[in-house]
Amino acid sequence: MEIRGACIAGLGAYVPQRVLTNQDLCDIVDTSDQWIVEHTGIRERRMLAEDQATSDLAYEATLLALEDADIPADDIDLIIVASVTPDVPFPATASLLQAKLGVRGAGTYDLMSGCTGWVQALATGSQFIQSGSCERVLVVAAEALTRVTNWTDRSTCVLFGDGACAAVLEPCDPGQGLLSFAMDTQGDAAHLLTIPAGGSRTPMTPELLADHKDRLHMDGHEVFKLAVRGIPEIVGQTMEKAGLEFDDVDLCVMHQANIRIMDAAHRRLDIPYEKMVINLDKYGNTSAASLGIALHEHKCEKGIAPGDHILMVAFGAGFSLAAAVFRWV
Ligand code: UT7
Repeated sequence: MEIRGACIAGLGAYVPQRVLTNQDLCDIVDTSDQWIVEHTGIRERRMLAEDQATSDLAYEATLLALEDADIPADDIDLIIVASVTPDVPFPATASLLQAKLGVRGAGTYDLMSGCTGWVQALATGSQFIQSGSCERVLVVAAEALTRVTNWTDRSTCVLFGDGACAAVLEPCDPGQGLLSFAMDTQGDAAHLLTIPAGGSRTPMTPELLADHKDRLHMDGHEVFKLAVRGIPEIVGQTMEKAGLEFDDVDLCVMHQANIRIMDAAHRRLDIPYEKMVINLDKYGNTSAASLGIALHEHKCEKGIAPGDHILMVAFGAGFSLAAAVFRWV
């Protein structure tokens, strides 16, 4: 018996209104617009308002995804939220989103995996559809990175922004929608990108707080190298599983972390630049949300045709890698 497919039936994205430009950051740390643009490709990013939290961003993106899928919130069976910046340590942001949506009878849980979260959540949600356990799964990636940014560290504070994306997954014909995915993790490199304190290993103290150990820490140089080395391998595995050649890819959407990582990937994968979706100049690195925000923007501005092959590639905390190929329905 052929297993049914799982496709993205609706897509949404939301970024907060407040814009933080490179020039604004020059007032906070010793940096320059030229350094940030040359080393990252980022020109500005968005910052959530004081009274906003991750679930608020998730909610806005979800409303657009539901509208795009043309279904009421009540049709959702399961909500998965990918985030490393939840509203509170627990309960899950997915539960808070469920309450905002007023959905009854839907399971909820969070998936905490940093920048690979969106691809991992899409792959996870698709399993519920393909197995027949669910008819409609809402997959959201939402991040409020500026809440955990160390504003005294110029090597990280210029990189991150806030935003959310959402997708409604539905059943489709076999051979359509999600064709394949691959994941890999190098846990021995987990210390390269982390919030060092506040968990069970190192509970927070006033000293650690004063030393910004409640904030994001990253060895960007090492993460950069792991990303550039790991992307061809994870993409190769995904393409092989899907039985596709690189020529078959119509659109490549990567985690929007650094234009130089995307340049390296486009050269190593031999994917033409015009097939790459790039919008990190406007939003910076929004972790799990970046890929979906870029995909949604591309869909709204240029459209995605049925049958198009969309390659998604993400990397980040863990150190984790994930890639997926969809045949658009
Ligand atoms: O989303 C999760 C995955 N994360 C990533 O993929 C991030 C990957 N890493 C990167 O994107 C890059 O490594 C960074 C953008 C974080 C850093 O770029 P880089 O070219 O690797 O710079 P670097 O860390 O090697 O630093 C080069 C120099 C240093 O000065 P010295 O020691 O050479 O004198 C830094 O102090 O640039 C300095 N620097 C800055 N200068 C001006 C670091 N940050 C800044 C800054 N403005 N904001």
